[in-house]
Amino acid sequence: MRTFVLRARAAPTESTKLLASVGKDAHAEILAHTLMNAIFVAQSHRPDVIVYLVLESTADFSRTIRFDASAMQDIGGFNEQALLAKVARALDASRGMAKDETRPVESGVTVRTVSFERLVQQLAEDHELFVMDRKGTPIGGQAFEGNPCFLLTDHIPMPKNTFHTLDRLGATRITLGPTMLFASQCVVLIHHYLDQR
Ligand SMILES: C[S@@+](CC[C@H](N)C(=O)[O-])C[C@H]1O[C@@H](n2cnc3c(N)ncnc32)[C@H](O)[C@@H]1O
Repeated sequence: MRTFVLRARAAPTESTKLLASVGKDAHAEILAHTLMNAIFVAQSHRPDVIVYLVLESTADFSRTIRFDASAMQDIGGFNEQALLAKVARALDASRGMAKDETRPVESGVTVRTVSFERLVQQLAEDHELFVMDRKGTPIGGQAFEGNPCFLLTDHIPMPKNTFHTLDRLGATRITLGPTMLFASQCVVLIHHYLDQR
């Protein structure tokens, strides 16, 4: 199983704001592109993928939307609009949720009011964590066994404190080279690397 967590620090947790932010400061398109490249291949999808989108621009709690590609029945297309509609649907389903509550949205999709830090603490119990960072270990020098989980951000960097938390959880920093890439481009390169093994 391959797991990707996108920490979308600028992404609104209110669906209309999210949809209105495409191409604006919050760059909601990053969520769609990352989902697209994590889940889809030509004429099919990758069944062995889980994606967590953690939306953090909120008046109450972060919203963590979990997509299990193998359980998603109506993926509804891979265009930006279709994928953002899935995210918006999950946000609408999450209205009024208390802290650390989980709700089903549709087959293969759930939404939870959990923070990025709490999520990665839980994932660390049965995943090997990798933080994508240009200053990390080259991906070619890293062995991957079990359930790798790759941590990425939108256009806003991971706060320094988070790196300390991730270090304590044993996360490894991985680089894909010196060029600053989009999160969605990192996902393609990670899949490519793992596909070669
Ligand atoms: C657009 S970048 C984030 C840019 C942000 N301003 C920063 O300084 O981190 C989006 C995500 O891709 C990761 N990333 C971008 N280029 C990378 C590279 N060459 N190797 C590893 N991760 C990379 C970043 O670490 C981040 O998680």
